[in-house]
Amino acid sequence: MSNKPRLAVVVASTRPGRIGPQVGQWFGALAAEAFEVVPVDLAEVGLPLLDEPEHPSSGVYTHEHTRRWSALVDSMDAFAFVTPEYNHSFPATLKNALDYLSREWRHKPAGLVGYGMSSAGLRATQMLTPVVRALGMVPVAETVAIPLRQRVDDDGRLVPDDTMNATATALITSLSRYTTALSSLRTAA
Ligand SMILES: Cc1cc2nc3c(=O)[nH]c(=O)nc-3n(C[C@H](O)[C@H](O)[C@H](O)COP(=O)(O)O)c2cc1C
Repeated sequence: MSNKPRLAVVVASTRPGRIGPQVGQWFGALAAEAFEVVPVDLAEVGLPLLDEPEHPSSGVYTHEHTRRWSALVDSMDAFAFVTPEYNHSFPATLKNALDYLSREWRHKPAGLVGYGMSSAGLRATQMLTPVVRALGMVPVAETVAIPLRQRVDDDGRLVPDDTMNATATALITSLSRYTTALSSLRTAA
C-alpha cells in the first residue's frame, strides 16, 4: 500500500480510436514519482447521462453506478483531467462525469491537460477551468497544451517533446504542493 497521495488521471474522451489513453499514460508515468497514479478512463467508467433525481450535493444516490463513481472520486487526493478539444470546449462525457457528484470533488487540486488541433486544446482547458472551480476544486495555474499535428506521428503514436515534458512536470510539482496544502482544508471540513 502506497503512502503517496492518490492522483486520478481522468481520460475524458471515449470514442473508438481516440488518442486520449496515450496522453493519459504519458502524463501518468511522469506523475508516478510524486503520486500513486490511478488511471480513470471514462469509457470504462461508463456513466449514463446524469440520471439521479436528487441534487448531487445531497449525497443521495439511487444508482449503483453513481455510488461506485462517488467512492472512486472520494478516494482521490487530486485530479488530472486529460481532455481533448471538441468544438472549442471539453467533451460532454467529462461534464457529465463532473456533474454527477459534488462534495467528492471539493477542496481537491485539479491539473488540466489539454490536446487538440488548431489551438492545442487550450480552449478546452479554458472552458473546463470555471467548471472545476464551481465544484470547489482548485485548478493549478500550470496547464499542458499538446498540439496534435506536431506531436502525433503517421502511425497515430503520441511523440512527447521537451516542452510537453517540461510543462507536465511543472504542473505535477504544483499539483503536489496544492495536494499538501489543501489536505488540511479537507480535514477541517
Ligand atoms: C467532435 C469533435 C470535435 C472536434 N473539435 C475540435 C476543435 O474544436 N478544435 C480542435 O483543435 N480540434 C478539434 N477536434 C479534433 C480533436 O482535438 C482530435 O481529433 C483529438 O484526437 C480528439 O481527441 P480523442 O482522439 O482523444 O477523441 C475535434 C474532434 C472531434 C471528434
